Amino acid sequence: QVAILDFGSQYSHLIARRVRELHVFCELYSCLVTVEELSKHELTGIILSGGPNSVYEEGAPHVRSEVWKFIEAKKLPVLGICYGMQELAYTFGGEVSRGVRREYGKAMVKTHKAAASKSLGFLNGLTDEDFQVWMSHGDKLTKTPVGFVDIAYTANSEHAAIANVDKKYFGIQFHPEVTHTPLGKKLLSNFVVEICKSPTDWNMRSIADVFIKEVREKVGPKGHVIGAVSGGVDSSVAAALLHRAIGDRFHAVLIDNGLLRGGEAEEVVNRLQRHLGINLHCINAEDRFLKALAGVTEPETKRKKIGNLFIDLFQEEAARINHPVDFLLQGTLYPDVIESISYKGPSATIKTHHNVGGLPDTMHLKLIEPLRELFKDEVRELGMVLGIEEESVWRHPFPGPGLAIRVLGEVTKESLDILRQADAIFLEELRKHGHYRTTGQAFCVLLPVKSVGVMGDGRTYEKVIAIRAVSTSDFMTADWYHMPHDVLAIMSSRIINEVRGVNRVVYDISSKPPATIEWE
Ligand code: XMP
Repeated sequence: QVAILDFGSQYSHLIARRVRELHVFCELYSCLVTVEELSKHELTGIILSGGPNSVYEEGAPHVRSEVWKFIEAKKLPVLGICYGMQELAYTFGGEVSRGVRREYGKAMVKTHKAAASKSLGFLNGLTDEDFQVWMSHGDKLTKTPVGFVDIAYTANSEHAAIANVDKKYFGIQFHPEVTHTPLGKKLLSNFVVEICKSPTDWNMRSIADVFIKEVREKVGPKGHVIGAVSGGVDSSVAAALLHRAIGDRFHAVLIDNGLLRGGEAEEVVNRLQRHLGINLHCINAEDRFLKALAGVTEPETKRKKIGNLFIDLFQEEAARINHPVDFLLQGTLYPDVIESISYKGPSATIKTHHNVGGLPDTMHLKLIEPLRELFKDEVRELGMVLGIEEESVWRHPFPGPGLAIRVLGEVTKESLDILRQADAIFLEELRKHGHYRTTGQAFCVLLPVKSVGVMGDGRTYEKVIAIRAVSTSDFMTADWYHMPHDVLAIMSSRIINEVRGVNRVVYDISSKPPATIEWE
């Protein structure tokens, strides 16, 4: 694998994505990673990411000197990107200055053809014409480090790309991982495939086999695993994988909390139990959840109540299983893992999303997280390899607290039913008009206000439904979705006409940030 040492750039995870798109396995490590950690893996090369610091600044992060020795001893090729390149300069006797002018945006790179032709193919396919790249830096290289030659430049960066052919160390000032560097992928391929000679066998079918084998080894021939499923992509794929690996020794639990969308619990049972043969037990706990939520209006309190009850029910279910259970399945994905290893400071809690995180230690369960190396789109691909149909792997995410955070204010059975009806109509029209796959998430919200309307000859005083649809790839940022007006007109008219108790529909035109995707 290729190890990416993360210096805290907002693009680090994109480097990992691009490398994996080349079918090369790679993982992100903190830039302060130790030799002990690195030597656990069979490495083919190292990428140093960008980062927000200045290399000479006090407290700026640097690769440990023992790690440099390790890289040298193993003869591993190194690619430094932006700060990563400045780190090469810092370490090997180059010089970096605070940029007189910050360079941010597109730039054209010209190559020093003679030097580039001797750079082990690093710039193969990029030397015929100037090529466009994305720059985002304040500091820049002012003296080429010892043993390196300049192989490319831009109007503002004399040393836009450097190479040390003997050591196979390369540095680039620009970002090859973003789409604004159209040939970036070719450049990364030149490095990880041609120069590092990394195996290009990272594809879903082989990954599924490896994961299944790993689960079997970890669980052993007699171990039992329990895991909650929600119908969402991650838990479904994790469950399908466990079922393939250990059959009925995997116990899936679906808690129908009464906060799901219409017909959803049956649909999940149908898909996972009947279609895939997963050993699934569905618990109907609507009454208990509604009771716990009575009188609660504050969003975080709702999350806490739902989370706690979920844990109680889950424990009750685990106790019901006739075998001792050893493992708890969690559908953790790579972005969650990255969040915990990245070289970044703590961030403020806006919402406590991970409401299923804290099972009490008294359960003595070991964690099993088979998807922790995968990005979302890889999970989808794995799901298809495991026999989950395409429509299901493309389902929008649905929050753990479900419709409880989409009924603003107090949650009652009556308001949930209103929301369920409106949401079903909205999603039906969204699919019918071809907007389901282009939206990242789309749903209705029931507002805690009433508005005046007129129906026939009479005055109405009824609830308001807000329609929310966003386009997003990572759910960290999102744009409100530009839904065609005629589609909105159909949705609005159907909801008002068909759902008793609603006389007004509004469309949410807020992006994230500063709004969030959910309203609570
Ligand atoms: P926000 O509203 O923070 O949502 O922009 C980002 C993504 O997270 C989902 N979300 C949750 N998921 N438990 C969950 O499992 C939660 O409490 C929760 N709150 C928000 C939201 O649906 C969106 O996909």
